[in-house]
Amino acid sequence: MKTNFFRARSLRRAAVILVLACSTCLFSFAQNANLQDNSAATRLTGNWAVKVPKSDGTYQWAYFNLKQDGDKITGSIRVTQFYYTIKESTGGPDSFTITGTMRDGKSDRTVKYEGKLVGNELHVSTRRRPEDKPTESIAKRVPDGEGAMPARLPLPALHKVAYNGLAKTPPMGWNSWNKFKSSVDDKVVREIADAMVASGMRDAGYIYVNIDDTWEGGRDAQGNITSNKKFPDMKALADYVHSKGLKLGIYSSPGPNTCAGYEGSYGHEEQDARTFAAWGIDYLKYDWCGARNLYTDEEMPAVYQKMGNALLATKRPIVYSLCQYGRLDVWKWGPDVGGNLWRTTGDISDRWDSMTRIGFSQNDLAQYASSGHWNDPDMLEVGNGGMSDAEYKTHMSLWAILAAPLLAGNDIRDMSQATKDILLNREVIAVNQDKGGKQGKRLWQSGDQEIWVRELAGNDLAVGVFNRGAASADVTVRWADLGAKSKIKQVRDLWEKKDLKVDGPEYKVTIPSHGVVFLRVEK
Ligand code: GLA
Repeated sequence: MKTNFFRARSLRRAAVILVLACSTCLFSFAQNANLQDNSAATRLTGNWAVKVPKSDGTYQWAYFNLKQDGDKITGSIRVTQFYYTIKESTGGPDSFTITGTMRDGKSDRTVKYEGKLVGNELHVSTRRRPEDKPTESIAKRVPDGEGAMPARLPLPALHKVAYNGLAKTPPMGWNSWNKFKSSVDDKVVREIADAMVASGMRDAGYIYVNIDDTWEGGRDAQGNITSNKKFPDMKALADYVHSKGLKLGIYSSPGPNTCAGYEGSYGHEEQDARTFAAWGIDYLKYDWCGARNLYTDEEMPAVYQKMGNALLATKRPIVYSLCQYGRLDVWKWGPDVGGNLWRTTGDISDRWDSMTRIGFSQNDLAQYASSGHWNDPDMLEVGNGGMSDAEYKTHMSLWAILAAPLLAGNDIRDMSQATKDILLNREVIAVNQDKGGKQGKRLWQSGDQEIWVRELAGNDLAVGVFNRGAASADVTVRWADLGAKSKIKQVRDLWEKKDLKVDGPEYKVTIPSHGVVFLRVEK
């Protein structure tokens, strides 16, 4: 009995405890669910950063400054040179998409990220094109304000910047971008400088050794720009390059970031110009890039004028190369902001269609080139392997006729004989460097065949007979069409390096597919 009594009592007690415990647990479960509901509506809010360390000591970064309000996410996305405002969103912490847009000149750019919250991390992915594999990254919370876009600084009133007296003929040299992109470093630049001497490039006139994007570190406590680990001592590098009888060029942007997302000169224009001068820099390529987030295309002249003045103020002779892809008819105002040359198009690539699309579209710009002020259809791809030698001869001939800067973009340390023969053809270089400073023009076109003529100082003409077609073609050059008498004094084939025997009023020649016959004609 006693046992039964005790059993009954303890069963009763257990039941009470269970009911009590259960109601607490129900209560706390309900409370938790409530809490979770609330935080699910805002949990994405915050400043998130993806920061992947690179071997040069800098970071590959992206910032997501988000404000979540239920199923709506607003805020901004900043990645490399771009700064987007979030205009559309779907979902919440478990799965969301955000679409950012930004104005870029006359058009809009868009970026879309998919993401989800995993613990304390934001997992995000994006694709350049829908068919691409997504690029996935992990963002962590960072303090508010980190990665914020700086405020827009006022721009100076426009005035004419004095000519610096440089680049009397189109600049010649080498630039790291086409071949090396982010793998350029101190060692490469020194070896290229050595090779410029050993290969005869320097003596042929290729003087500038230009470091493009990805050399930048950050800023020191005084705001001075620093180079990253790839370039331990810029001054020492400049000294080395100068000791070889060459000049050193560098790259920056008027924006907070360069195209590759490195530190730009924004708000530090004078300071950076002084630093470049102190290092011994002789040439600056100034690339619009991140400036597009703060200024409109119409404001480009004032933005470029700022650096034009800053370079002049250093008193060091520094060639000023504008790079803004030919927007806002830069050829009309480039000289006024102190520019010696200005890019006329987007980036070249090592392909026949890219090179010819750029090269053959320069006709209308001829009137804007003059000594000290050049149209720049971008750097050479000769020797990079994506075109045939015939195509590279077309490239080099066209750039010579266009009075374009001749900045080799290949690995000078390792050139085939054919590449050397193209880059080092002194007679072709002489056309490019002609003192008359006149850019050539298209004289005639029939289907895929074109004749371009450049008037040279004295009485000579450079005549490029091009065949853009897939099969070889016959073209007849009539001397009278060149403004010459029907009997001309001398004709020299610049690639064959021989004088031609031409007695009659015309010269009929067969041009291979994608090839050129390049003539120097003495009227
Ligand atoms: C832009 C320029 C290129 C090169 C890269 C570097 O795309 O047009 O010539 O300088 O930036 O990031």
